[in-house]
Amino acid sequence: MQYEIWHARYTRTMKLFVDTGDIDEIRRAAEWGILDGVTTNPTLIAKTGRGFRDTVLAICQAVPGGDISAEVVATDYEGMLREALEISGWNPQIVVKVPLIPPGVRLVRTLAEKGIRTNVTLVFSVSQALLAAKAGATYISNFVGRVDDASADGMEAVAESVEMVATYGYDAEILVASVRHPLHVVQAVQAGAHVATMPFKVMEMLFKHPLTDLGLQRFLDDWNAAGLTIFDRASG
Ligand code: E4P
Repeated sequence: MQYEIWHARYTRTMKLFVDTGDIDEIRRAAEWGILDGVTTNPTLIAKTGRGFRDTVLAICQAVPGGDISAEVVATDYEGMLREALEISGWNPQIVVKVPLIPPGVRLVRTLAEKGIRTNVTLVFSVSQALLAAKAGATYISNFVGRVDDASADGMEAVAESVEMVATYGYDAEILVASVRHPLHVVQAVQAGAHVATMPFKVMEMLFKHPLTDLGLQRFLDDWNAAGLTIFDRASG
């Protein structure tokens, strides 16, 4: 399917987040100078084999100024609130990740009133995104890969949600999550999404084009064959 809606006039910038708890991967992505933040979830944190707080604080340090999403695991309002206040107190870079369930939406409203930023996760439809936007979410994580896995088009809800926040002037940014390959990133751009989060492997793949490799090799071969240098040999 073609995503023909271009929302350049609405979007502020396209942010790129890496979706991992692996500090080495995060440091490597941060070195490229294009990383705006990191998303984690309970599964990714469990994979690290380290404690939650230590991992999240190490991520904050690896991406100074970046938005770092860390997720609550309680499913009742009081429990989620307690966890959210704890997590958000660790570092101002932290964005509290909250699942799209009724107490989660209530929590987003409470946290918004306290000036605590949120990332509403496990969003699959524009109607769910509307609830998150109305509650005052900072980011709305719309999962695409898991929908594609079920033989549907995950990017449709992204395009609809980008349109929805622009139409009504909500502050929420639509974050494309569950990204599986570079084409998802292309489609996220075409849909005018504000953010895409992706595994490190996918971020690395964004650099790749066979003509870039071939072209660079040709430039270097021609340069070396001509015996050229940039620095004056005499000046060392
Ligand atoms: C988003 O924030 C989620 O952590 C993530 O993108 C889920 O991706 P998956 O569907 O590949 O597990």
